[in-house]
Amino acid sequence: MTSSILHLVVSLIGILLLLLLLLLPRAVNSSSDDEACVVDETCRGIGWISPTLDRIRERRRLREEAEAMGGDDGVDDVALIVKEAMEAHSAGRAEEAILAFSRLREMRHDDVSVEMAQAEMYHGIVLAQQYRGVEALECWSRAISIQEKASSHRPEDVEAFRGQVGMLIYRAAEHFSAAANNEPGNSSNLKLHFDAAKLCNAIGDTVRATNHLEAVLSLDPDDSIAMYVLGTLREREGKTEEANRLKQTAIELQPGNIGGAMISAARSCEENDLEACARRYLVAYEYAYEGRNMQVASRAVSSAVFTLLQYKGEAGLDESRKIGEKAVSRGVLNAPMQVPGNLILGLSPARAYHDDSREWEVVRVLEEHADEIRDEVLAVYKAGKLHGRYEYDSVSDLAVRGHWAEVNIIRQGMPQSRTLELLPITSRVVLSISDAATMVHGGSKISVIDGGSLVRPHTGSTNSRLRVHMGITVPNDCGIIVDGEERRWVEGKCMVIDDSFVHSVWQNSTQVRIVLIVDIWHPGLNETGREATMSERQIKWYRAINRMMTDGTWLEAASEIQEGLILSSQS
Ligand SMILES: *[C@@H]1O[C@H](CO)[C@@H](O)[C@H](O)[C@H]1NC(C)=O
Ligand SMILES: *[C@@H]1O[C@H](CO)[C@@H](O)[C@H](O)[C@H]1NC(C)=O
Ligand SMILES: *[C@@H]1O[C@H](CO)[C@@H](O)[C@H](O)[C@H]1NC(C)=O
Repeated sequence: MTSSILHLVVSLIGILLLLLLLLLPRAVNSSSDDEACVVDETCRGIGWISPTLDRIRERRRLREEAEAMGGDDGVDDVALIVKEAMEAHSAGRAEEAILAFSRLREMRHDDVSVEMAQAEMYHGIVLAQQYRGVEALECWSRAISIQEKASSHRPEDVEAFRGQVGMLIYRAAEHFSAAANNEPGNSSNLKLHFDAAKLCNAIGDTVRATNHLEAVLSLDPDDSIAMYVLGTLREREGKTEEANRLKQTAIELQPGNIGGAMISAARSCEENDLEACARRYLVAYEYAYEGRNMQVASRAVSSAVFTLLQYKGEAGLDESRKIGEKAVSRGVLNAPMQVPGNLILGLSPARAYHDDSREWEVVRVLEEHADEIRDEVLAVYKAGKLHGRYEYDSVSDLAVRGHWAEVNIIRQGMPQSRTLELLPITSRVVLSISDAATMVHGGSKISVIDGGSLVRPHTGSTNSRLRVHMGITVPNDCGIIVDGEERRWVEGKCMVIDDSFVHSVWQNSTQVRIVLIVDIWHPGLNETGREATMSERQIKWYRAINRMMTDGTWLEAASEIQEGLILSSQS
């Protein structure tokens, strides 16, 4: 508790200082900045970054001050973005706030910090106030699940947060319910009734949820989504016959839409009932396939397999493989066990290990510098400084056991200046590899896994990337299994895996295992293919890196970049 309060206070002080500084006349700093440009030439050739360099330097200084004061993460970008979004919201620019939150989520989709949980909570509040109830609910369940991961050692924090979010859902349910009932026969209330039903269901008020769904159906008797959801409620009440009739009718009405509808139904239950969730994804998959909606079918079957593995672990592998094989024969998967959240259909080669990578730039460059990288990383590790933002230490989590840390060098395409300072040689080698520096859907990092650890079968988020592992220190009794095939790391040697395939890691030795992980673009994607996977902002960023690499200013610019800042200052 105390440390999170301290953290909050430090962040708030940081933000206040930053705001003050931003408001000060530029003259205060300009002479020293001009000097810096002349001396180290960081400003040349990176035109659109230059205006933000002074802000970046200020932020860095503030961060250092905050660290000196004892804050663990220093000035936090998430807190700043949330603050700005909420200011936009209170100034009546809700859409701008919602956009900022969505971008934040995109940038930090694997961030499991307390700040990110707060961000999702506020995101939900803004959506709810715009009468986007179902989306708000999604944010709130996300917020809770992030908070659970962020505070796994402090159940009391999770409970407090749950209470806070629960109260929001409760109030939103009341609000939506009242609004929908205001003019019950008005057909523009249809969405309100539906959102009210979802919110009421979330607080366990199935009676009211049922009433709202019936109201939707009285306004539009053919609303198959409402019908299907009503069916699931009836099922829970034990009214199996009526439930089946409703669901069957819903499916007959609109098989195409039902695929999408069931996916969202399954999403919302993902956190609680994995078995039901997997089953619903499978139903969604069948109907989407019948309706010839191959994209939805592909997403649904991937999610089904993924959830099955989460739910059953190793025991679910055989069943998953069978489902996957059938999906390949139907053309909705590339390979049976390649089931990332975002699957590019038809991208080949689709295989677990890429042993044809010996001549690739990334492999050549990393292995060429293997000794320097090992010496640097081990020295920092031995000095006790190799601990990352992400440390898991869990015995209860379904997915993981043991203890490990990840120190990011690049994160979602953003160089991490702290790591650049901590591991200058390694970071610069990685940043010099264009396939790695421009990879916005992943990152590069040092992965430290202690003995006695286990990562159960899971998949990465996309097949647009491949993951290069270079062994730094590798004890005997550990390895990785990708798509059923086991391999061991070798010190100083690279192994290229496709982490969109189901994979697991075991570490049974008594010594530490350290590996350098570098994400690169899948070689089957050309420029057009790469850009098709990116958001507009990512494309902008991607092109800027390419430009800076070409004109030789990239490494200098990278060392000045604070995560997220360039992106947020670009809009
Ligand atoms: C239905 O509700 C909308 C939005 O609240 C309102 O603009 C419209 O006038 C209402 N229609 C009727 C017939 O009451
Ligand atoms: C690693 O240890 C665990 C538990 O001690 C054991 O169940 C598992 O079979 C071991 N794995 C290997 C590959 O030796
Ligand atoms: C890029 O790849 C796609 C898909 O493989 C292909 O259709 C397209 O023609 C390629 N574009 C270029 C410019 O090579």
